Amino acid sequence: MNENLSYTKGADKAVVYEELLPQIKSLLEDETDTIANMANIAAVLKTAFGFFWVGFYRVKEDQLILGPFQGNLACTRIKKGKGVCGKAWDLAGTIMVPDVDQFEGHIACSSMSRSEIVVPILHDKIVIGVLDIDSDLLQHFNETDAHYLEIICSLL
Ligand code: SME
Repeated sequence: MNENLSYTKGADKAVVYEELLPQIKSLLEDETDTIANMANIAAVLKTAFGFFWVGFYRVKEDQLILGPFQGNLACTRIKKGKGVCGKAWDLAGTIMVPDVDQFEGHIACSSMSRSEIVVPILHDKIVIGVLDIDSDLLQHFNETDAHYLEIICSLL
């Protein structure tokens, strides 16, 4: 595991994701516990890109419940259809929010968060959780993030 890998301004995001993918795959090959794997993925993404908040919510009791994360404390339960996370669950699709202030119903866990991406984790077409990443920069996420984060979620 290369812990020194980090995304610096101007670096090609895709190059960093390509370097992270085999590391994440090998982490997951050695461990079957989903919580442990979510914890390590959150740590790897936070370290590599310096995102403001990286974490998982898991579907339990017909809600999203906070799982492993890196960053400030966050809201613990989100209902289906609520916030960006609940909408991504409902749609079973990735949602990118370039400016959280423009997203109706956005749930603000921190006033520092400016943009966000939420990627659902699907098992047999059923959403079992979501990966949520917040940035303190506007318009931080693009199709490259969506592409690679969807691959990473498909490994869980
Ligand atoms: N902003 C999210 C809530 C979770 S926090 O960002 C960690 C949402 O609107 O669903």
